Amino acid sequence: MTKRPEARPATHDFLEACRGNKVRRTPVWIMRQAGRYQPEYRAMRKKYTFMELCKEPELATQVTLLPVEQLGVDAAILFSDILIPVEAMGVPVEFTEAKGPVLARPVRTARDVARLVVPDPYETMPFVMEAVRMIRQGLAGKVPLIGFSGAPWTLASYMVEGGGSKSYVGIKQLMFREPALYRSLMQKITATVEKYLLAQVEAGAEAVQLFDSWAGALCPRDYRTLAAPWSARIIKRLKKTGVPVIHFVYDGGGVLEQVRDTGADVVGLDWRVDIDVARKRLGKRVAVQGNLDPCSLFLPERELRARVREVLTANAKLPGHIFNLGHGILPQCSVKAAQVLVDEVHKFKL
Ligand code: CP3
Repeated sequence: MTKRPEARPATHDFLEACRGNKVRRTPVWIMRQAGRYQPEYRAMRKKYTFMELCKEPELATQVTLLPVEQLGVDAAILFSDILIPVEAMGVPVEFTEAKGPVLARPVRTARDVARLVVPDPYETMPFVMEAVRMIRQGLAGKVPLIGFSGAPWTLASYMVEGGGSKSYVGIKQLMFREPALYRSLMQKITATVEKYLLAQVEAGAEAVQLFDSWAGALCPRDYRTLAAPWSARIIKRLKKTGVPVIHFVYDGGGVLEQVRDTGADVVGLDWRVDIDVARKRLGKRVAVQGNLDPCSLFLPERELRARVREVLTANAKLPGHIFNLGHGILPQCSVKAAQVLVDEVHKFKL
């Protein structure tokens, strides 16, 4: 008998899991699934800068689709960076090999904040919406496309610190010494992110992820009062579009309940919290995404497979789980290990 081509699913396990519904098998994707661990990506980076890959829709499309074919993941994520809208607000960004992103003219004073614009995404970042359209075409319904943005606190931290930071002393000083200025900065960033994500959805993004990568630097009280309300405002607006919203706070184990209370459909978990503990704390009404330690990919294959099963077993077959790493895949990882991860998730019987 000839093998019939697999029928295209009427629904996608990824989107169903985001909504807490039953799925055929646990969906999986990997944060930073398009990146330097792939030889094909490294070859592209010999020819183009990172910003060129982000700003040329055909290149961004090619890079986005690469892991979908190579790994067999259940979702694609737009290839871009959280700092693209920061540049559109009027703060130049440079990606350096040695130090990561560098913002040479950080935002520190009332004048700096006053100069910031709330950009029209279609005018200042048309390449993003064009990439979203091209990726959707390229995917042809095979798996859904996730759009994303940085969350306000994380974007503010980059803008004030001028790059990555260990202590976040610059943004925290601004927050505590000049609360009114902090509020007007957050207002502008929040309005920017809201418009930007709505434009991505309008262009075809089928889910969105809000990355609050550095909000784990805040104590729970400050997260609840000074960071979460801005994210909640964006999430509330986005939910009206009907697309699921994933909210990921890296190192957010101390504030999981507050992350849930922003209204997100899915709470992203890093590896510092056990998934069974997280689910008990979060209750039934929210889905979770995560949460294997990215360094597990360095283990021998058998042990890696066992670790994948440990996460799945800890989730206890509860609906509303999207498998992922607890943070981005590292450049030192092998494609083979990422393939093993996806394979093991897909083999797991629900
Ligand atoms: O997940 C994906 O595959 C989509 C693409 C994506 C990138 N950045 C590509 C990228 C996404 C979703 C991001 C988000 C992003 N960018 C975050 C949030 C996620 C997280 O890690 O918490 C943050 C904090 C940034 C800021 C950023 N961009 C940093 C700190 C760096 C340097 C670190 C590094 O790995 O070099 C980047 C650059 C970057 N963004 C690269 C990629 C593939 C590496 C660029 C290169 O040299 O090719």
